[in-house]
Amino acid sequence: MNVNRDGLTRRALLVGAAATAAGLGVLGTTRALASAKPLRAYAADKGILFGSSISGHALKDPSFAELFKSQCAITVPESSLKWDTLCPTPDRYDFSGGDWLYGLCKSNDILMRGHTLVWEQALPTWFGYIVNSENANKMMVDHISKVVRHYAGKVHSWDVVNEAFQIEDGRPDGLKITPWLRLIGPEYIETAFHAAHEADPGATLVYNENWLEPDDAGTEKKRNAVLTLLTRLKKSNVPVHALGIQSHVYAEMNITGPGFNRFLQQIADLGLSFMITEMDVRERNAPADIGIRDRMIASQYYKYLSFMLQFPALKTVITWGLSDRYTWLATHNPRPDGMPVRPLPYDAELKPAPSWDALRNAFLEAPWR
Ligand code: XIL
Repeated sequence: MNVNRDGLTRRALLVGAAATAAGLGVLGTTRALASAKPLRAYAADKGILFGSSISGHALKDPSFAELFKSQCAITVPESSLKWDTLCPTPDRYDFSGGDWLYGLCKSNDILMRGHTLVWEQALPTWFGYIVNSENANKMMVDHISKVVRHYAGKVHSWDVVNEAFQIEDGRPDGLKITPWLRLIGPEYIETAFHAAHEADPGATLVYNENWLEPDDAGTEKKRNAVLTLLTRLKKSNVPVHALGIQSHVYAEMNITGPGFNRFLQQIADLGLSFMITEMDVRERNAPADIGIRDRMIASQYYKYLSFMLQFPALKTVITWGLSDRYTWLATHNPRPDGMPVRPLPYDAELKPAPSWDALRNAFLEAPWR
C-alpha cells in the first residue's frame, strides 16, 4: 500500500476499489463507499471499536443513516441522554430519544455509550430554581440511579463525570467551579461513580475530559490534576474504569509530545483503559484552500491516532459526528472567513474526505490489542 508520511493513500485507489467492488463503476459515491470495507472493520481487525456520535435529526437523513450504520460499531448520543433532554420538568423523565437510538443500535449491531451523567452544562432550566446545597447530593444520586438503571446491561460504558477540571479557576486541586462543586464539594465525583456502580454493577464507568494533549504549562497542570484524582479514586476503590479523552483537537497544533505520552502511560499504569470519545479536528486557523486544509486535517488524524494507538489500553475510537453535514463545529467553532468547516471523515456531500484514509491507515498500522 502506498502510504505517505501523513498516512494519506492515493484516494483514487481506495474509492476506485470500492466502486469496483460494488459494481457501480462510479468513483466516490456514497453507495460505493458504503459497500466498501468500512472503518469499523479496519478497526475491528486490530481489536478496536470505531464509531461516531449521533444526533437524532441526522438519523432522519436516509443517506446519512445508511452511512452511519455501515461505518460504526459504536455510537454515543450527542444529546438524548443529557440531563436537560431526559428531564425537561423535575417530575418527568423522557427516555424516548435514548430508547429509540438503543433499538436502532441493537438491530444494526452497534454498541451504544452513555453520555453524560454529571456535567455542568446541559442542566435543565429548572435546575437553578430547585437544586440547592441541601438537596444537590440526593438530586445527583437519584438522577444517576434512575438513568443508569434504565439502561443497565445495555450500554457499552457511561461517561459518569464530564469535564471536571479547569486550571484557570485557580483551585489547588484544579477542579472547575461548577454548580456540583459549589453545592456538594469535591466529593461529588466519587459519589457519582459509586451511585453509577450501585445502579449497574457491571457497567464500565468513565471519567471524560477535554483538552489534555498539548505540552504547555497549563495543560501539564491539568493532566497532573486529572492523574491525581484518578490515582486517589483507584486507591480508595472508587469504581472508575477508564479515562475518556475527548480529543477535540486543532489541525495545526503539535499534540503528541512527551508530556502527553508520559500522562497516557501513567493512566495505563493505574490499570485504567482509555477511550477516544469525541474526536474531531478544528481548523479555524487553517488556510481557506480546501485541498490544503483537508491535508492538514487528515495529517492530524493520522498523527494523533497513530500515536494514541501505540497504547494497547486504547480500545475505542469515536469521532464527534461522522459527516461535516452534521458537525456541531459548524455552529460552535465556525471559521472566521465563514467557509464551512471540514472536521470529520465524511464531507457535507457524504463523500469520504482524506481524513477517512487517515483513520483507515492508522487502524491498518495499529498494533493488535
Ligand atoms: C455538544 C453537542 O454536540 C452540541 O450539539 C450541543 O449543543 C453542545 O454539546 N464536549 C462534550 C459534548 O462532552 O457533550 C459536547 O456536545 C461537545 C463537547
